[in-house]
Amino acid sequence: MYIKVNPSSLLPLGLLATSGLSSPVTGGQQQHLLGDSQALAAAIHLHSSKPLVTEELLAGKIEAKNLLSRSHDLYTIAKISEPHYNHPTRVIGSLGHVGTIKYVQQVLGTLGGYYKIHEQVFPAVSGNVYESRLTIGKHPILSARAMSLTPPTKNKEPVFAQIVAVANDGCNIEDFTEDVNGAIALIKRGNCSFGQKSENAGTAGAVAALVYNNEAGELSGTLGTPKKHHVATFGISDKVGLKVLEKLSEGKEVDASAYIDATVDVIETRNVVAQTVLGDPDNCVMLGGHSDSVEEGPGVNDDGSGSMTLLEVAVQLSKFSVNNCVRFAWWSGEEEGLLGSTWYAEHLSSEENVKIRLFMDYDMMASPNFAYQIYNATDSEGDPKGSEQLRNFYINGYKELGVNYTFIPFDGRSDYVGFIDAGIPAGGVATGAEGVKTAEEVEMFGGWEGKWYDPCYHQLCDDLTNLNSTAYEVNGKLVAKSVAKYANSFESFPPRKLESAEVRAERMAESKKRWKYRGKKLVM
Ligand SMILES: *[C@@H]1O[C@H](CO)[C@@H](O)[C@H](O)[C@H]1NC(C)=O
Ligand SMILES: *[C@@H]1O[C@H](CO)[C@@H](O)[C@H](O)[C@H]1NC(C)=O
Ligand SMILES: *[C@@H]1O[C@H](CO)[C@@H](O)[C@H](O)[C@H]1NC(C)=O
Ligand SMILES: *[C@@H]1O[C@H](CO)[C@@H](O)[C@H](O)[C@H]1NC(C)=O
Ligand SMILES: [Zn+2]
Repeated sequence: MYIKVNPSSLLPLGLLATSGLSSPVTGGQQQHLLGDSQALAAAIHLHSSKPLVTEELLAGKIEAKNLLSRSHDLYTIAKISEPHYNHPTRVIGSLGHVGTIKYVQQVLGTLGGYYKIHEQVFPAVSGNVYESRLTIGKHPILSARAMSLTPPTKNKEPVFAQIVAVANDGCNIEDFTEDVNGAIALIKRGNCSFGQKSENAGTAGAVAALVYNNEAGELSGTLGTPKKHHVATFGISDKVGLKVLEKLSEGKEVDASAYIDATVDVIETRNVVAQTVLGDPDNCVMLGGHSDSVEEGPGVNDDGSGSMTLLEVAVQLSKFSVNNCVRFAWWSGEEEGLLGSTWYAEHLSSEENVKIRLFMDYDMMASPNFAYQIYNATDSEGDPKGSEQLRNFYINGYKELGVNYTFIPFDGRSDYVGFIDAGIPAGGVATGAEGVKTAEEVEMFGGWEGKWYDPCYHQLCDDLTNLNSTAYEVNGKLVAKSVAKYANSFESFPPRKLESAEVRAERMAESKKRWKYRGKKLVM
């Protein structure tokens, strides 16, 4: 089912009313919104006489007050959603999200044709679990969690069946014996994704699946991209799972009732990609943030701060010329599981893929209880060659800006995943989400010990009060430096190699197995 939002039913900001960019959008295709080749030639002529960008020049143009002013605009846009959601939000499918995209396009459109602006429309999967219940024997399992993007139980009604334990990890269809047919499959977490286990269970005829944790505690996650044979799936704790296993191994029967009322919808949404008309188009530095928020709030820090940093850097860059092409992206559907960036990276042809020399992810730049965190990308761990060099660039960049930094795992929580899987070097920085700040980090960055880096992460209070302007400006300058550095030169940065589609698909399948997360949710 497609839910279409009418993009013309906008916008309260006078700034946006004159937008000439609302026009045609084609399904799945990248849409060229710039005029004809004459206009392009004129734009190149106009901009190429500008001074060549340098790190110092571009970083010098980034100021907290301009970033904050863009965040104000964004918050106003999030409020367009209030009549539908009862609070400000920029979740995909909302007018606040459509407004965000139009705001970005509108601002870029005022820069004298400095950028070619593309839209990429794609179907985004969005799930809702309305109600779920699991009862084993006579005991309601209150800690059971329906997985995100799970289908409902049959007819959205409870199913009653015996629980059957699955051999090994349930990653192979051979692990499922015939008695799984019509039963509720009990599967251990690990080795492959929840989605694969659910698909195997459904293929074997199970009416529901329970994945139990292989470490201490409750388990919640996502099935990821819906598959035909996915079956209603819960995550349960190690304790609950092992208790059932024990009874089964004593030869006892264990029956259960499982109920999930859920829907999985497809919403049409779009990425925005802007590329400089100047610079070598075969050698591009690419960077991205996500244009969407969660449903719960306006997402002023997550990822309003990254989106607005990119926009401000894009505006300031237009005062300079570049040697290499610079490509900015505002991804949609990040919060539903990195959908936009993955769609983009997976739909690049081999020829387009090698033009991207590196990708830089900027998600959450101004957390109130921030740390300056660098993704610990390392060539030795199989990250595409160049990822570590980018990481080292950030280390130097923070040193030059006179601040401390930490490393965080490169584990799949943001939009770099699709690029790494596609063989493109990637990295990025962030200021922290629901992690807890240590005493040592308070010495390094200030702030409060024992509190989340972003106490309003994925909540209604992620509003204009949820930004630290110092972090916002420091990271704005770092982003500017990263753009300027590679817009100026790729000297000593590893070249890309053209791969056949087959080799690429193989490596992509292998690479995908490494990620523990897809966005905020566990996948295995
Ligand atoms: C792990 O999963 C793969 C499939 O993803 C499977 O081939 C392999 O047998 C599994 N290993 C175990 C120990 O279950
Ligand atoms: C970064 O990754 C490297 C290689 O995996 C590892 O040796 C190192 O300990 C990591 N550093 C931090 C601070 O996590
Ligand atoms: C960096 O961290 C150290 C503690 O590890 C601290 O003494 C120093 O003041 C910090 N520097 C800045 C610029 O915050
Ligand atoms: C931002 O963080 C710095 C360092 O912790 C602190 O001194 C400053 O007061 C904070 N500013 C805002 C606006 O929260
Ligand atoms: Zn985010």
